[in-house]
Amino acid sequence: MGLVLWIAMCALVGLGAAQEATSGARLLASKHILNQHLVQKKDVTVQYGLHNVGDSTAYDVHLDESNFDKADFDFVTGFTQAHWDRIAPGANVTHTLILQPKEYRIFNFTAARVQYRTGEARDAQIAVGWTSSPGEGQIWEINQFNRLFAPHYADWITFLIMCVPTVGIPYFLWHTSKQRFEISRVATKKQ
Ligand SMILES: *[C@@H]1O[C@H](CO)[C@@H](O)[C@H](O)[C@H]1NC(C)=O
Ligand SMILES: *[C@@H]1O[C@H](CO)[C@@H](O)[C@H](O)[C@H]1NC(C)=O
Repeated sequence: MGLVLWIAMCALVGLGAAQEATSGARLLASKHILNQHLVQKKDVTVQYGLHNVGDSTAYDVHLDESNFDKADFDFVTGFTQAHWDRIAPGANVTHTLILQPKEYRIFNFTAARVQYRTGEARDAQIAVGWTSSPGEGQIWEINQFNRLFAPHYADWITFLIMCVPTVGIPYFLWHTSKQRFEISRVATKKQ
């Protein structure tokens, strides 16, 4: 019994030490591309999420995105830099950027940089981290995209017209023979 208690106490002390080591502000940052398809000269929505999983406030939080060059993208709304004075423990903040790719190609969506102070004091420790990186995405040329993904109405209409002879002619033959049969049946009844 004594031994079990001793082991349990050691485990608790160990847990306390582990929590001590990870205490303070700690931000997890994500970067997501909200579009299912990326198309040249069409809006692409990039969303950043910062979540404080630590047990104290993060101060002077900077998000710095340097993935998108003005030569490659037109900026529609939002900024490539964002700032929050503080993010409380357990709190979430989001930031959104909308841009349009100028060219079609494969593009590598990389991580954005996140920096914050772990304490309120000006000389508090500074933490630097990165968002998740969405990775490579295909940016389609508009006509190519329409060919591949737009609903193929024209194709379906052509298909239906082509079906008319194969379905329509047997129906016509059946219909006329049925009429002939019914007429002869009526004729038989009269007799
Ligand atoms: C904050 O975001 C995390 C992960 O995205 C989520 O699990 C959590 O529920 C969110 N918390 C609040 C208060 O919205
Ligand atoms: C995308 O960029 C990241 C960061 O620069 C790099 O580590 C990764 O290898 C790149 N991916 C490809 C497929 O080039």
